[in-house]
Amino acid sequence: MHRTRRLRKSDNIRRLVRENHLKVDDLIYPLFIEEGKNIETEIISMPGIKRYSLDRISVELDEVVSLKIPAVLLFGIPSKKDDEGTETWNSKGIIQQAIRFIKKNYPDLYVITDVCFCEYTSHGHCGIIENNDVNNDATLVNIGKQAISHAKAGADMIAPSGMMDGTIAVVRESLDQTGFSDIPIMAYSVKYASAYYGPFREAADSAPSFGDRRTYQMDAANRGEAIRKATFDDEEGADILMVKPALAYLDIIRDLKDNFDRPVACYNVSGEYAMIKAADEKGWINGEKVMMESLLSMKRAGANIIITYFAKEVAKLLIIK
Ligand code: PBG
Ligand code: ZN
Repeated sequence: MHRTRRLRKSDNIRRLVRENHLKVDDLIYPLFIEEGKNIETEIISMPGIKRYSLDRISVELDEVVSLKIPAVLLFGIPSKKDDEGTETWNSKGIIQQAIRFIKKNYPDLYVITDVCFCEYTSHGHCGIIENNDVNNDATLVNIGKQAISHAKAGADMIAPSGMMDGTIAVVRESLDQTGFSDIPIMAYSVKYASAYYGPFREAADSAPSFGDRRTYQMDAANRGEAIRKATFDDEEGADILMVKPALAYLDIIRDLKDNFDRPVACYNVSGEYAMIKAADEKGWINGEKVMMESLLSMKRAGANIIITYFAKEVAKLLIIK
């Protein structure tokens, strides 16, 4: 008889044979930074997460640093939007100010910036609109400008999230030509058109005012296409490949891990966070345990890095243990 239960008998033996571990080192914490003063706004569908203006964000950054979370991922909410999202490459824009502020006051914190347009365009789409759709190649030009502007402000890593073809090549070339060949790119390689982004769009004020993002984000039904898209990003020079969302796409995380010799990141998105928080508030699940189990499943699937709104909570639990 095969007796698998022998190695489950006590906590110590379970610890010895445990195959995967969640670590604080795995985590990236997203931050929403809004232009203006004295802002600290709760995001209703994401309990515990807020939008901050720069003059209020130190509480959050102090905590992130004291918990030894290695990195933050910045999203900006500008005070003015326009057709093209020109604020994204303004050297005095909210993200550029935020990067300078963080690198000056928290020099050891690793700063990653989301490069996209949806929070900055009046129509909420991830690029320039032409004939009711986002024009890929026109948008690429602006992606290059935005990436350079983040690098000049002092960003440590650039993460383009708009799903325009050719993005990684353009960002790599733009950075290399301006003296930033040492800044890595984390590619949102496999980003699905997902209903799990709902709460984020409230948080970042980035919902499209017409249509949806299905002409640029991937169809949830597709797996082969994920490999194809990641292959292009790999060839164009992405340093890290990301899958987004995470929990409903664990198979894709594993595919990327098995097929590429690159670190794989996953984005545990706003809707995944909201579901656990809501069910926990109702007393229907143990939110803390479901959180740990969910994040561990991403490690098991092959993720090296997890971007998560739970980062601070997880770090606190891991420190106690
Ligand atoms: C937009 C962007 C989105 C997220 C990060 N960057 C959502 C979207 O496509 O509307 C989602 C993050 C989350 O849901 O937590 N480029
Ligand atoms: Zn976008």
